[in-house]
Amino acid sequence: MPAFVATDPVGYEKFVGRWSQRLAPLFVKYAGVTAGERVLDVGCGTGNLTAALAGARVAAATGIDLSASYIEYARRRVTDRAVVFEVGDALNLPYPDGTFDRALSMLALDVLPDPNRADFSRNLNVIGKGID
Ligand SMILES: C[S@@+](CC[C@H](N)C(=O)[O-])C[C@H]1O[C@@H](n2cnc3c(N)ncnc32)[C@H](O)[C@@H]1O
Repeated sequence: MPAFVATDPVGYEKFVGRWSQRLAPLFVKYAGVTAGERVLDVGCGTGNLTAALAGARVAAATGIDLSASYIEYARRRVTDRAVVFEVGDALNLPYPDGTFDRALSMLALDVLPDPNRADFSRNLNVIGKGID
């Protein structure tokens, strides 16, 4: 499968983002995210789920995405101090073990060229817990 190329954040928001913005708080609630957690949003795109995590009063919400233009857009839009956005590859996460309590991913695993290589558990405190 070819790499997913994401270059137009404004267009994405009109097409899909306006829906993921509505879905994100429901997903956060469904996942049982609690205040004070450190949460990774894998394939965060324009930052809708990351913003919802901040709304749930997590200690830290990190959004990572391959698309520099999406990350730049997300940084301008979501200015909560608990939030950090970074450009990076979900298949090669640049974080030490135990950096996060939980990893979430919304509408992104299906566009990874090899989802079987997406091992987020390495970055969590408790292996096998909290991957939604
Ligand atoms: C359909 S969008 C979903 C974005 C966001 N999670 C949302 O719900 O609106 C898929 C996202 O996955 C990102 N993506 C694709 N391959 C990736 C990879 N290898 N690592 C990180 N992000 C990736 C794309 O850049 C895009 O932002």
